[in-house]
Amino acid sequence: MHTAPSFAMYPLLIRNTGATAVAVPDGPDGSDLAGVAKAVTDDTRVVVLCNPDNPTGEVLGTAAVQQLLDDLPPHVLLLVDEAYREFADPDAVADVLGLAAHDDRVVVVRTFSKSHGLLGLRVGYLVAAERVTAPIRPSTPFYRVPTLGQAAALAAMDAEDRMREQCRAVAAERDRVRDGLLALGFDVPPSGGNFVWVRLGGRSRAFVEHLAAAGIAVRDQDGLGVRVSTGLPPANDAVLAAAAGFDPAPDGTAP
Ligand SMILES: Cc1ncc(COP(=O)(O)O)c(C=O)c1O
Repeated sequence: MHTAPSFAMYPLLIRNTGATAVAVPDGPDGSDLAGVAKAVTDDTRVVVLCNPDNPTGEVLGTAAVQQLLDDLPPHVLLLVDEAYREFADPDAVADVLGLAAHDDRVVVVRTFSKSHGLLGLRVGYLVAAERVTAPIRPSTPFYRVPTLGQAAALAAMDAEDRMREQCRAVAAERDRVRDGLLALGFDVPPSGGNFVWVRLGGRSRAFVEHLAAAGIAVRDQDGLGVRVSTGLPPANDAVLAAAAGFDPAPDGTAP
């Protein structure tokens, strides 16, 4: 089970295991965690949360995740994907590793692909209680981290200050793009990722095509909105310049 919209790979990855993917749509204020708890049945094995969420950028705090844990029955694992954690305000984003230390239903997955810039080197890790890791261990030889990836990850861990500085710079650019889009009349919630989520509903496809005409590739998801990744300042300027030529609500109505 997962919230929606969320990382588009979740339904595919869940189905690959032979399980059934159940999507719980967000409410108007973001993830509907009470709805998630209500949707759980005896057949539910895992609830997947992406925090910060891809594509919405929503950041869940410790209290919200703890509340979900309180509401989940004991047989359900809570898997939290923290792929974008380092781009979020450290005071706002949930301390899920802390929760995992006291609750063996919590599983945390992290990747070096985003904040550490090692996309393609296939380095990541999972933190969970022994009862969760033990059954996974026999399959780990099939997902070995390549030697190059190991070397890069070790070097990246030695450069933590630089990584944090770069993530702060990306977050500042992300917020600048959000402010620019808000000033143009777009509906853009705060984001803790390295992207912003532009809520355009039925206008999403038109916005994707509008930006494509300016040579900018962005992705719409399920006709709900458009995810715009944060690039270097000139690329972000190009997004804002192109967006200025698009009317987010041509008939004067919200999407
Ligand atoms: C939410 C989320 N989780 C996980 C990943 C996968 O990262 P990796 O490169 O480690 O497979 C991505 C990549 O786009 C992502 O957006």
